[in-house]
Amino acid sequence: MHKKKLAVFISGYGSNLNVFLQNKDKFADLYVVSSNAEAYGLVRAENCNVDRLVLEQPLSWLTLQQKLIERGTEVIFLAGFMRILPASFVNLWEGRLFNLHPSLLPKYKGLNSIQRAHAAGDEIGVTIHQVTAEVDSGHIVAQKIAVSQSEVGPMSLEEATQRTHACEHELVLAWINSL
Ligand code: GRF
Repeated sequence: MHKKKLAVFISGYGSNLNVFLQNKDKFADLYVVSSNAEAYGLVRAENCNVDRLVLEQPLSWLTLQQKLIERGTEVIFLAGFMRILPASFVNLWEGRLFNLHPSLLPKYKGLNSIQRAHAAGDEIGVTIHQVTAEVDSGHIVAQKIAVSQSEVGPMSLEEATQRTHACEHELVLAWINSL
């Protein structure tokens, strides 16, 4: 099977990045791009000898695009990347750009999704979707329930959050194995 050249974009802790790092042999290339020089995910990548790129401020999407082309990147995965991508960049990667979101989209788009679903007593889950210019709105490729409607009532926000993050890691692994 053709192994892909993947770039994972992060901004912080990188627990989902960790799933990619643990499975790096499944990729022809793994490249970590961070919008934040202090992101702990950069340490994780360094510990696994995976190349990193820290984006400069102000961010030049054109320069980033050039670096990805030089690298031969085929697919981009956004794993906690806290910058909104401009349509000009998204359009260049149509069908090859994916995002992980901690809700059962189309519900709870945007920030604090777990907290909002929990406060509403709604089931909580995670989604991997293709990225389009409109935030959290592209074609859904994988979805998984982390906390069911009947479980959510008595569950603390802390436990619901932990369960959702563990569910994200499972969904990321399933996505990697489906490539
Ligand atoms: C995850 O909940 C992801 O869905 C969201 O940002 C968080 C990143 O967590 N977009 P981590 O940095 O992978 O631990």
